[in-house]
Amino acid sequence: MTGIAKLLEPHVQPVSLLTLYLLVVLLIAVVWGTALAVVTSVLSVAVYVTLFVDPAFALPIADTQTAVALGVFLITAVVVGTLASRLQRAAQTAERLTEEQSALRRVATLVAKAGPPSAVFQAVTSEVGKLYDADLARMERYETDGTVTGVAAFSRVPVHLAVGQRFALDGLSVAREVRETGRPVRLETFRGAEGAIAREARGLGIRSSVGCPILVAGRVWGVIAASTKSDQPFPPNTETRLASFTELVATAIGNAESRAELRASRARIVATADRTRRRIERDLHDGAQQRLVSLALQVRAVQALVPRELGEAAQELENIASGLSAALDELRETARGIHPAILAEGGLVPALKALARRSPYPVQLTVRANGRLPEPIEIGAYYVVAEALTNAAKHARASSVTVVVEARDDALHVAVEDDGDGGADFTAGTGLTGIRDRVEALGGRVSLHSPPADGTRLEADLPFAQQTTSAAG
Ligand SMILES: Nc1ncnc2c1ncn2[C@@H]1O[C@H](COP(=O)(O)OP(=O)(O)OP(=O)(O)O)[C@@H](O)[C@H]1O
Ligand SMILES: [Mg+2]
Repeated sequence: MTGIAKLLEPHVQPVSLLTLYLLVVLLIAVVWGTALAVVTSVLSVAVYVTLFVDPAFALPIADTQTAVALGVFLITAVVVGTLASRLQRAAQTAERLTEEQSALRRVATLVAKAGPPSAVFQAVTSEVGKLYDADLARMERYETDGTVTGVAAFSRVPVHLAVGQRFALDGLSVAREVRETGRPVRLETFRGAEGAIAREARGLGIRSSVGCPILVAGRVWGVIAASTKSDQPFPPNTETRLASFTELVATAIGNAESRAELRASRARIVATADRTRRRIERDLHDGAQQRLVSLALQVRAVQALVPRELGEAAQELENIASGLSAALDELRETARGIHPAILAEGGLVPALKALARRSPYPVQLTVRANGRLPEPIEIGAYYVVAEALTNAAKHARASSVTVVVEARDDALHVAVEDDGDGGADFTAGTGLTGIRDRVEALGGRVSLHSPPADGTRLEADLPFAQQTTSAAG
């Protein structure tokens, strides 16, 4: 720099040289900070005096004007250096805030999509790890027996404590401190600390850690912790800033728990209604139906005893017998509508065959499922097919219907397709909505494809195992 100044000296004013020095000070302040900028300013003055003002550096400088100019330069350089470095710090803070906001937005989008909480756990842990330049970030869930389970991890260093692993909270650790205080914590060092986690941290070269509780419905559900190997600890308030992330985690857990509760309660309502229908069907079968059967038998027996000359009475008895038989048929039909006994007794295949037989149009039925299936699935599939066949007869003017029931890896797939008028709509009645409610209560899905004049296809997937209802990662 001084070499350049020496070269330029014959051609430019001294003030221009000082401006050049000022620019260099500015650059140093931005890149290396205020302290070095101040040192450079002072050195610049010394070098300038030595080279250009008084080569012998015989202070005090004789020329007052030069002395004042140098003084002003020095002050200006220090002020400019300080301001530049402050501005740079502010810019860095703003950049970090922007990054933090972007990370929070990404996580919030994931939470809004209502995916599995484990995806949110991993996203939050990775975002926190990257955002704060951590070497290690972990999310852990507190168990009732006093241990913790790792639910997500981010690591720039090889970690031993894997996700899914459960470990005891002995000795010093962020997880333990957070559980005991219920507040954000900062551990400046693990030097000399007892316990497996502290030893593990030391082994990995971790110098310091921060952590923040995950509070769900007022209880400390878990913790997120970030650790660094650097001797430079995390910026102040990092542990408190983590709260924005843990609030999103808590929302995801709360939502998942509410959804699971809602699904369980819908499934209970459907199961209770099914039990009630089945009981009514049995009562009808064992009560009124049996009574009608025995009355019909009695009438037939009396008929056999009536002498020929009482033709009118015999005719009356015949009328009563046929009336009883018609009433019995009607009662059987009603009972079947309430709950088909054949479903409970024989299972899905005979029940579907019976449905197909009773249809006013040809039904092509294919069942690819072996043995009995869980009761709610058999009942669910039966009602899907029953409603679709009834609708095809009532609304579609169909000439044929195809029914396919297939046990896939994780769900029973049911598809009913007619070649009728199309235009089926969930909102236009209660039958299709009832089907959707029933299937969704089992954690399944229904889809309806019914363009005008192009037939109707109703599909349902009934999962064998309900999605896990716990928010565990
Ligand atoms: N297979 C079909 N083809 C054509 N239109 C259909 C078909 N299925 C349903 N729809 C139309 O969609 C509407 C809704 O059907 P949904 O089964 O919900 O009610 P619904 O059959 O009218 O009455 P219910 O409550 O007794 O079932 C029907 O009113 C009908 O207009
Ligand atoms: Mg209907």
